[in-house]
Amino acid sequence: MAGKVTVVGAGFYGSTTAQRIAEYNIVDTVVLTDILEGKPEGLALDLNQSRSIEGFETKVIGQTTTIDGQGYEAIAGSDVVVITAGLPRKPGMSRMDLIETNAKIVRGVAENVAKHAPDAVIIVVSNPLDEMTALTQIATQFPKNRVMGQAGMLDTARFTHFVAEELNVPVASVKTLTLGSHGDTMVPVPSRCTVDGKPLSDFLSAEKIEELVVRTRNGGAEVVALLKTGSAYYAPSAAAARMAKAVIEDSGAVMPVCAWVDGEYGIEGVYLGVEAEIGKVGIRRVVETDLTASELESLKAAAVAVREKQADVKDL
Ligand code: LAC
Repeated sequence: MAGKVTVVGAGFYGSTTAQRIAEYNIVDTVVLTDILEGKPEGLALDLNQSRSIEGFETKVIGQTTTIDGQGYEAIAGSDVVVITAGLPRKPGMSRMDLIETNAKIVRGVAENVAKHAPDAVIIVVSNPLDEMTALTQIATQFPKNRVMGQAGMLDTARFTHFVAEELNVPVASVKTLTLGSHGDTMVPVPSRCTVDGKPLSDFLSAEKIEELVVRTRNGGAEVVALLKTGSAYYAPSAAAARMAKAVIEDSGAVMPVCAWVDGEYGIEGVYLGVEAEIGKVGIRRVVETDLTASELESLKAAAVAVREKQADVKDL
């Protein structure tokens, strides 16, 4: 086993991501960092003590860091860095309400990552996702293929869950897809959704599909409203960990992720949720899928909205 993955931020999202990656048993080392003194060290100790029970050899290193970069030596040589730093939403907030606060946090983290792990592939999960992904690329000046964001895997998983629940079928028989932003301009793609290989429209009315699409778009907020403090982390960390695994294993898995789109679908220069092939280099290529005219129109509208916000982010 070789390889090193760093997870920045030891909140629920970060710690469960570190746990999942460690339990895959595919890398030597998982580094978990946080600015809360002792928290990453404590969680790492606890995770390491679970190794003989769960049967994994990956060692977890906890490291307190400071905003000015102390402690970041621990991330040197990371193949993948997952950035979860930043605040989660409170009930009633949109992801966009976090932009100013999280931009400062994410920019600082990104600069430290660039300095100490200059060859890493970065997976951003901080919100608002599409903007924080763009900001991370700007702050690190990494090639665009080495910076991506996690959202589509999560939104797709939520859509799949809702369809499976509605039809009372195994989740494994359901395939769904969402593109666009991780926000108001999320673009669920019903034409690419199937149940046992048959079109979703054979099973559900257009109204029902639209209802599930709306619930998917509000999937994060629904969890936030129930939890009252913090936001979702089991499904989000599952998605981020699978992306990290695809990079580590250089698997070529095609996943919906936030990737730099420049020309695909006729869309120019924006970080946007699309399907992409993931490997050691990060994004190997964006994979274009057939969309209906209205789905393509929604994706283009999402690109316009996200591009505008991403232009603001460089000054934050
Ligand atoms: C969500 C947050 C993590 O969708 O963006 O749950």
